[in-house]
Amino acid sequence: MAIDADIVRPRPVDDLGRRVAAFTNDNLFTGVPQLLHPPNPYRRMLVPDAVAEVDFTRPLGTAEATGHRALVAHRLLGTFYEADTVLLPEQGLGALRGDFDRFYGDGLRRLREASLSDLERFAFALLDDEIDVTGAWSVADLAAYFEHAAAEAAGPAESLTAIAAARRPQVAADTYLVQLALDGLTEASAMSKNLGGAFGPEQSALFKVFIDEFGYGVHEAKHTTIFRKMLRSRALQTHVHAYWNFYLAGPLATNNYYYFVSRDHASFFRYIGAVTYAERVFAPSFVHMIETYRGVFGDDVDLHYCEEHAHIDAHHGRITRDEILLALAERHGTGVIPELVRGIAEARLLGGWFEQDAAAQIRWSDELDAYRSPGAGSGPARRVELTALSPFGTRSHDAAVIVTVEDGEGELITGPTAAPEPMARGDAVLVPAGRLYGMRAAGGRCAYTIRDAGTKTDPDAASDAGAVTPSAS
Ligand SMILES: [Fe+2]
Ligand SMILES: [Fe+2]
Repeated sequence: MAIDADIVRPRPVDDLGRRVAAFTNDNLFTGVPQLLHPPNPYRRMLVPDAVAEVDFTRPLGTAEATGHRALVAHRLLGTFYEADTVLLPEQGLGALRGDFDRFYGDGLRRLREASLSDLERFAFALLDDEIDVTGAWSVADLAAYFEHAAAEAAGPAESLTAIAAARRPQVAADTYLVQLALDGLTEASAMSKNLGGAFGPEQSALFKVFIDEFGYGVHEAKHTTIFRKMLRSRALQTHVHAYWNFYLAGPLATNNYYYFVSRDHASFFRYIGAVTYAERVFAPSFVHMIETYRGVFGDDVDLHYCEEHAHIDAHHGRITRDEILLALAERHGTGVIPELVRGIAEARLLGGWFEQDAAAQIRWSDELDAYRSPGAGSGPARRVELTALSPFGTRSHDAAVIVTVEDGEGELITGPTAAPEPMARGDAVLVPAGRLYGMRAAGGRCAYTIRDAGTKTDPDAASDAGAVTPSAS
């Protein structure tokens, strides 16, 4: 049978920029003046100006895994993936019916479908360079590698250490909590994509884990419900996605990765490796989180969500390892083990990006005074003018920049509950590569410039996991 090459040939990648520009310029994605998004899951600021700067012909490299191009790509991907789940506002659809129709409608769906695979390649091709699984793997090798990888994640996460050391630990703890909201408010949505089909006892074991995440059908016990209790106890907003503007590239990439390997069932074994790793490391990580958050907030925080995971994920860690990961390896043979290993290695790598990015943001925001008055910078200045009605958006840069207020007064925003940093005319702040910030006008109008700082202060934030061989364990 003759198949026309045009049907299967990928579109030219330089066209990807045009396709995503058409998507981001839809008025669902051009933002509102407020820092937080209102209770409307269909609107999220995609910062079209920042998207327009991105060269989509060159896939992300590891050194920029938490940089600006990564932030742009993962905001888009996250929006694409969530458009494949059901989102309804708690207060009822009411006046949002038009936004619902537009978000899920034919026009944006076609743009998503025409862009998704290319955008995934743009965002995740670096995993092929970073992780190289070679050699002949037995089930015993897989089990040993898994234990080795899980053991390395046993200590307190980098972000928790940064929170404990912060001058304003409550602000730092809120910043981290907001990163967890990305998954916490829609938990197990990626997992749901792996439940269909027919794959034997391992399918039933995965369903057991899934139904726990959904509180066995009791809404009050659903993990998303108890996550919202934690947010509420900190007087934070609980709707999807109030804190969209504050999600960092590393956490977005981590969340998107699970959708990426769940959407394409050719990656099923990678998904299983990754989810087994995640379930295993969650329990001890939530034990550390409980210690840190009790230390910061005392009894002033509801940690039921963390306690639930410290308990149930010990159980999920055993089910996923024994009844799914190792059982699939036994049943389907050595041909699938390298992909199971790859999934474990990828989840570990992505988990590292999550932590490095969140910790770096916490430290920069906490020590902002030290980044003031950095000098004039170099190169051409990009001028941005704001009024009180300008949509608020956050962004980062791939290299360090100096933000200087030239006219009027502004406020620099570096975190969901960080106090806005006043910026009078002439004030300047160094924004290291990859750090997320937003500017807004104070008192009507503000004009500021962005100049290259002439130095990269946060290079190679991501680490190289390198080759994975059976002997690596
Ligand atoms: Fe959970
Ligand atoms: Fe779990």
